Amino acid sequence: MNAKALQEQPQLHIPVMASEVLTYLNLQPNGAYLDGTIGAGGHATQILNQLSANGKLIGIDRDAEALEICSKHFSASAQPVLLYHSSYDQFPGILKKLGISELNGMVLDLGISTMQLDSDSRGFGFKTNGKLDMRFNEETGETAAELISRLSERELADFIYQYGEERHSRKIARTIKSLKQLTTVADLKEAVRRSTPPHQRNKSLARVFQAIRIAVNSELDKLAIFLDHFNDYLCIGGRVVIMSYHSLEDRMVKHCFRSLKQSGKLKVLTKKPIVPSEFEQFQNKRARSAKLRAAERIA
Ligand SMILES: C[S@@+](CC[C@H](N)C(=O)[O-])C[C@H]1O[C@@H](n2cnc3c(N)ncnc32)[C@H](O)[C@@H]1O
Repeated sequence: MNAKALQEQPQLHIPVMASEVLTYLNLQPNGAYLDGTIGAGGHATQILNQLSANGKLIGIDRDAEALEICSKHFSASAQPVLLYHSSYDQFPGILKKLGISELNGMVLDLGISTMQLDSDSRGFGFKTNGKLDMRFNEETGETAAELISRLSERELADFIYQYGEERHSRKIARTIKSLKQLTTVADLKEAVRRSTPPHQRNKSLARVFQAIRIAVNSELDKLAIFLDHFNDYLCIGGRVVIMSYHSLEDRMVKHCFRSLKQSGKLKVLTKKPIVPSEFEQFQNKRARSAKLRAAERIA
């Protein structure tokens, strides 16, 4: 394969802090585990490698394409991976169907995969072309373009400010709403270009795209539901590991762990969030904003 063809190959997602995830999960070979955001199956592969034939791995993703990659990837594996096209906050219903009452561990690797970010048909990345969709689950809900057209200028500015921490939020929202049409990645990029100074434009673009993605997928709502009940489905000694890429998500995890610790139900294993090593950050720049928190159920 020549260099150009190699560059054009879709990049598979590199799992972030893979060895740290395994360390904090403290895997039991016969245990039952949940990967709530299985993506390309990077963390799941590592978990599976440590499970015996009696172990179980349940994988959930909202993205049907991710599940297709996983079902091919795991088709030859000795233990079946039970894959579900769903949202991770819905995991209790899946456990009920499987007749599993408790898990030995759960992993969430929040946010977006490399395949999603780089895809020209999904609209997640500002370096891509195509329709402004941004739904993890393409079968349901409003696309980014539909959401933006429904929101008022003020609501849009608030999302861009809260979920993107972008200080030009008002001006960007005003420009977006003044456009005759907004249906593509290029339209949104043009609105940000017109409203921000050139020297930090890529940062503004990243923040605006992130904010709209979070809003389209109600990402904070899903996390809040999960945090509300995950502990009830862990066995005593069971572990939860959550990686987030946004300060709002990390704060939600931190506060939840702290309150379960105060009620004597959880031992927090990470006093401060764990971040990728300098080497990993150098090798995988998408890992740079990752923060990992882990905890163990004690009562
Ligand atoms: C960072 S990637 C996970 C990568 C994975 N850990 C790996 O090693 O390949 C995040 C994944 O979470 C999925 N996702 C986002 N929100 C979700 C939700 N509420 N429920 C299930 N999956 C979700 C995305 O579709 C994406 O595939």
